[in-house]
Amino acid sequence: MRISVTDRCNIRCFYCMPDEQIRFKPRDEILSHEEIERFVEAILPLGINQFRITGGEPLVRNDLPGLIQRIAALPGVEDLAMTTNGVLLADMAEDLHKAGLQRLNISLDGLQEETFRRITRREGLQKVLKGILAAQQLPFRQIRLNTVAIRGITEAEIIPLGQFAREQELELRFIEFMPLDAEEGWESQQVLDGDEIKRTLESAFGPLVPRSRPNPSQPAVDFEFADGRGRIGFINPITQPFCGECNRLRITAEGQLRNCLFSTEEWDVRELLRNGATEAEIRNRLRECVMHKKAGHGIDSSDFQRPERAMYQIGG
Ligand code: 5AD
Ligand code: SF4
Repeated sequence: MRISVTDRCNIRCFYCMPDEQIRFKPRDEILSHEEIERFVEAILPLGINQFRITGGEPLVRNDLPGLIQRIAALPGVEDLAMTTNGVLLADMAEDLHKAGLQRLNISLDGLQEETFRRITRREGLQKVLKGILAAQQLPFRQIRLNTVAIRGITEAEIIPLGQFAREQELELRFIEFMPLDAEEGWESQQVLDGDEIKRTLESAFGPLVPRSRPNPSQPAVDFEFADGRGRIGFINPITQPFCGECNRLRITAEGQLRNCLFSTEEWDVRELLRNGATEAEIRNRLRECVMHKKAGHGIDSSDFQRPERAMYQIGG
């Protein structure tokens, strides 16, 4: 279950957010810490035991370590991870770890200032790099870097990122650009195919060897370099859709359940949480949401309909 804790963000990646004129949700429409905790408690008996905190940018949420602590303390929560842009991480990494956060995905789309600026339309690369460094000093179970792959931008970053991942012994994952940008500028020609990235990396660093796949529902296909240095994964939702294996569920910051990033329908949990519903009623709503999951996202079909929400309003 991926839990979005805010639709706000401190940068403006073009593949996710609009640059201006954003109408963020007012605070009273966003689930409180207590409501999120009650939701997690209610669904744990269904066997949902892995959680990821997303946004917007989760670190701009008030007292995020406090929320993490509440979730981590619930019996049955086996895995607790977070996806962050890293800008505020340097100052918060220690508190997050102490609160019980186990794993971190940090967005890093490139190592050049100019790439960061082009994508995020803000400054902040040095802060992100400091954030990564701070996280590495702590015993997180796993730290991964996420790179959204965009044709015309990412090509020149592939080898430097690969080098960085090898040197820092961090896992690096390339994610194909999906049509979830708020400005609706996505075009299929902007998708930089994961296989092409793999070939570029292999030409520089030698063969990539597939790693075992203990969990078939994970979207990424992971490799390691034959020399044992560096792990690279590819999430290729466009060129190699994996919808048939996906078991991800999402709840937006306003408490709406989604069975897919590309859902055009949502199931309201906030209303239940605010009207004294029982845990069983919350579980039933989630079951209903799962029952309606479609076989695939259908991005390449002619009647594909983009969801109304952009990435920052869904949670990555
Ligand atoms: N396509 C692919 N990945 C995206 N992300 C955000 N928007 C998109 C998109 N349109 C990724 C970011 C971040 C996570 C929250 O989701 O890289 O790592
Ligand atoms: Fe912010 Fe993440 Fe969206 Fe970038 S992808 S604008 S960092 S929420």
